[in-house]
Amino acid sequence: MIIAIDGPAAAGKGTLAKRLATHFDLAFLDTGRLYRAVGYGILQAGGDPNDPKIAVAAARALDPANVDTGDLYTEKVAEAASVVAAIGDVRKELLSFQRNFAHNPPGGKIGAVLDGRDIASVVCPDATHKLFVTASAEVRAKRRFKELQENGVESTYAAVLADIEQRDQRDRTRKVSPLKAVDAHVIDTSGKTPDAVFQEALDLIEGDRST
Ligand code: DC
Repeated sequence: MIIAIDGPAAAGKGTLAKRLATHFDLAFLDTGRLYRAVGYGILQAGGDPNDPKIAVAAARALDPANVDTGDLYTEKVAEAASVVAAIGDVRKELLSFQRNFAHNPPGGKIGAVLDGRDIASVVCPDATHKLFVTASAEVRAKRRFKELQENGVESTYAAVLADIEQRDQRDRTRKVSPLKAVDAHVIDTSGKTPDAVFQEALDLIEGDRST
């Protein structure tokens, strides 16, 4: 069983993916962490994420099974991740780890949930279930802003919205593996609780199984 979950930043993919993984006892991979780790490594070394040579070398040097170092969830790292994710050769470096995780999940699990931008379209076109989780940019920016406030990070709603819109634009319009709903059930999480989203996903998965 492979569940592919794609969608834009802060749409609620991660929350849903973790709950589905627990529910079905599947391994879970947040593929955004891989791109964040590449961006983080470059920033730490004082490099420029826009430089494809530097970005590809950083992706090659990454141990994708071990990306737990450093704070990957800052706006700076998110920006660097979005930049390196638009470079085709960076994506190629990270592809086999993701495919292997899906098809040979760790811990003896019978399947995996992967969340990202190109899981259904590129990483696992053969996924058993494909979900595209989205919400309006305003709703996503509000959620992200609240999260930042709770973590004591200074920011403004307008700045968070601008960041999200810029990243969306880059993720959707890049030449390689752009974010798009491919042959997936679309779940709009705007105005829905995590419980309601989880239930909607379960119903869709059940529906897939009965067809
Ligand atoms: O989901 P996230 O915010 O952690 O992702 C960070 C960046 O990585 C985001 O700009 C898009 C990119 N990404 C991608 O291009 N493909 C994936 N499968 C996952 C993330």
